[in-house]
Parts: sequence; structure tokens; C-alpha cells
Amino acid sequence: MEVVIVPDARSGGELIAEAMAELLRRKPDALLGVATGSTPLPVYQALAAKVRAGQADISRARIAQLDEYVGLPADHPESYRSVLRREVLEPLGIGMEAFLGPDGTAEDIRAASQAYDAALAAAGGVDLQLLGIGTDGHIGFNEPCSSLASRTRIKTLTEQTRVDNARFFDGDIAQVPHHVITQGIGTILEARHLVLLATGENKADAVAATVEGPLAAVCPASALQLHPHATVVVDEGAASKL
Ligand code: GLP
Repeated sequence: MEVVIVPDARSGGELIAEAMAELLRRKPDALLGVATGSTPLPVYQALAAKVRAGQADISRARIAQLDEYVGLPADHPESYRSVLRREVLEPLGIGMEAFLGPDGTAEDIRAASQAYDAALAAAGGVDLQLLGIGTDGHIGFNEPCSSLASRTRIKTLTEQTRVDNARFFDGDIAQVPHHVITQGIGTILEARHLVLLATGENKADAVAATVEGPLAAVCPASALQLHPHATVVVDEGAASKL
């Protein structure tokens, strides 16, 4: 695992956007795995700036979703599909035909989960998966004690994650769904390059457990230690307990 400490979130975004641009130069139809949350926004902004400046060609790029709430209508403004359309696809000018995501509205979530794993495999697998990290060390929505070999499946959110995410639902935890569909840790580990971005001191404990702690399901992000090509990009706040 490579750890890169950057001065601030903006530089982290620039570094990762450049890695994506470089990948697209080598493989124009690369499948980019994207994450939601506040942390990756500087990456998407930096990539959009590169596209505008003619330094990145995303015209053939494909985008894959990491996780989704269960039970929110797909057009709900806080469904991750809507969030990614707003924050990634539209600014980059990528159409929904180049987008892969799990169906959080399916009657049969188990079948939808298996279908999503199959769709990722049929698309040739994720080339670069961008990850954020929860304060409890979760990646995607794989909460602590998720199996490190898990596949895409339904999960129940912890109270802490629902509290953390209430800010996207008018601060009202009652509106935060209890269930989600998430790429499993085993699924995530199949991406060819994993890039985890963490910024701010509130992520310092989770980052220390990921990078220096034991490989353990209690910190799902520690599974990155198993991956042959994992990069952890942290600002000084998030690196403060390393
Ligand atoms: C959610 C998402 C994760 C994300 C995490 C952290 O739980 N499912 O993919 O990494 O939030 O979000 P933030 O970057 O806003 O701290």
C-alpha cells in the first residue's frame, strides 16, 4: 500500500484526477468506480477542469457506482444515483448509457446485488476505484465486521453512519434509510487500482487503523492491505495519527 500525504483536500483531488486522466490516456474506455460523500468532490472538480482544459478525454469513459440506499426512489435527490448524476456525470458530460449502478429500488435486492456483480464483471471490471472512508473505517457501505470476502449485498447501516449522513437529509436522521446495497469488500478488491482519499482530522483514527492497524474486519478499509495496487491519499489532518 502506498500512502501519499498531501497539504490539503484540493491537492489530493488534483493528484487523483491526474491519475484518472493518465489511465484514460492509456485506456480511453476505462471503467472508473466512483464514490459519494463530501471527500471525493475535489477529485470530480479537478477532473472536470482537466476535461475543460483538454487535458483529459472522458468521451469514452464509463462510470460505476459503489453503493446505494435501499428504498429511496431513483430520482430522489439523495439517492446515490442522483448524487452521482449531479456531481460526476453531468459536469463531465457523461451520459447514463455509460453508467453502471445497483438497483436500490428492486423488489428482490439479493437478485439485484448478484446482477450488479455480474454487470461489473461483464464490463471487464473496474479499472480504478475511488473510495472515501467512514469515521468507523467503512468503505462503500461495508460497515465494521463485514466479511472481507463479501460480494455486493444488502447491509444495515450503523447508527453512527446514519448520524453522519443525516446532513444530506435536512439533518433529520429519521429520513436516512436503514438499508443499503453496497459492493462487497471482495467486489471492491477486484478493481485493478484502489485509491482511497481521506481528509480532515475526523478521519485520522480510521486512516491509522487502515494503514497501520491489523488486517481486520472491524476496520473494513484495512482490506486495502490485501490489494497489490492500493493508494491512500491523505491530507495532514487525516494523517495526523500515523
Ligand atoms: C458514505 C458513503 C461512503 C463514503 C462515506 C464518507 O457512507 N457510502 O462511500 O466514503 O460516506 O463520506 P464523507 O466523504 O462525506 O465523509
